[in-house]
Amino acid sequence: MKEENLKSMTDLVAMCKRRGFIFQSSEIYGGQGGFWDYGPLGVELKMNVKNRWWRSMTLQKNIVGLDSAIIMHPEVWKASGHIDGFIDPLVDCKTCKARFRADQIDLNVSCPNCGESGTFTEPRDFNLMFKTQIGPVEDSASAAYMRPETAQGIFVNFNTVQGTMRQKVPFGIAQIGKAFRNEITPGNFIFRQREFEQMEMQYFVKPGSQLEEMESWKEMRWNWHLSNGLRADHLKWEPHGPDNLAHYADAAIDIEFKFPHGWGEMEGIHSRTDFDLSQHEKFSGKNLNYVDQLDGNKKYLPYVIETSVGLDRTILALMCDAYRLENPGEKEKERVVMKFHPKIAPIKFAVMPLMKKPQLEELASKMFGDLQENFLGEYDVSGSIGKRYRRQDEIGTPYCLTVDFDSLDDHSVTVRDRDTMNQERISIDNVKSYLSQKL
Ligand code: GAP
Repeated sequence: MKEENLKSMTDLVAMCKRRGFIFQSSEIYGGQGGFWDYGPLGVELKMNVKNRWWRSMTLQKNIVGLDSAIIMHPEVWKASGHIDGFIDPLVDCKTCKARFRADQIDLNVSCPNCGESGTFTEPRDFNLMFKTQIGPVEDSASAAYMRPETAQGIFVNFNTVQGTMRQKVPFGIAQIGKAFRNEITPGNFIFRQREFEQMEMQYFVKPGSQLEEMESWKEMRWNWHLSNGLRADHLKWEPHGPDNLAHYADAAIDIEFKFPHGWGEMEGIHSRTDFDLSQHEKFSGKNLNYVDQLDGNKKYLPYVIETSVGLDRTILALMCDAYRLENPGEKEKERVVMKFHPKIAPIKFAVMPLMKKPQLEELASKMFGDLQENFLGEYDVSGSIGKRYRRQDEIGTPYCLTVDFDSLDDHSVTVRDRDTMNQERISIDNVKSYLSQKL
């Protein structure tokens, strides 16, 4: 059998729209660049990924969760360096008005949009934070920002969380939430958006132990991506050298995924020293020292290992990796199948009465109701059975259960495996345990 991986993002974007995974935001008004909406299947996929990340963090005894506000005190962003440093150089084409990041194009050649040459404005700095205001009066005192990363919510709550949860270093705080960046050139579907979700964890460690701790987090995070079903040869490490190491870090490395547009960052693992805590100490005037009872009540600012993964980029990687076109060009045999790991798949099973007949529907509905208590499924009765299988293949449903006329006598159903398309007959009484075992 011939099988092709995803070749172009266009195919995935079309499938996502056709099947209810992800749509352009505000589409009926012509869309809004850099913003996307997750449809019914997309939101289930997202929940599964979020839950797996959340459990991988908070089931460890020394990691606790947090959900901090999106809009924080404006001083936070002065302390973090975002007001002065979260800047991209921007140029406009004077002819067609298209906007580019000056560091991403060659300013000596013609405009990639209209082809005119020598039309770029001088580069100017552009802060990527979205600005808003608090309260009814629009003045400089009311200016506020939508957070560009979730991490700062963790840093400013470090002391409170440590105290209330009686955590001892090393310990971590995990958070999932929206972040906003006014990207100059959003694109590649949900790879670079202006509103996206991050899953970040700050692990507070004793100064001096940070590089050893970072090594163990690297291993854990790599294995987490593999546990979701990503293929190892589609992942690679990309270390930050002295030229691109952030000012706050003494070591940093990215996990990259092989997207159709090329290798791209999915997760960053950073050793952030005590930069953030010391900045917040300085700007807030509050003492954020940790008292180490296990080390003679020594006082210090912990160092931080950060694991920061984009939820949307993880989802994009999972979808690109799962997408297969089988038997391309062979009319009857061609199929698109999303080979999601069953734990990630948005829909776990589909129940299909072979035909629209009351006896079959009665049995099928009863079985569907029983299974839905444990797993999310779909009930599909319309169209030919072949078409129904193809639809489930395309949304990545691992198992299809068909109720036919024999089922009325032998109380059994046919289970079809998404990947092999093999079918086996099992008793309806055993379906629940069969799925529990497989999923
Ligand atoms: N707290 C550290 C931090 O925010 P980052 O490398 O700027 O680090 C972390 O972002 C992750 O967030 C990235 O690896 C990526 O997965 C995701 N991310 C960043 N910008 C994004 C954007 N514009 N659209 C979608 N995801 C983005």
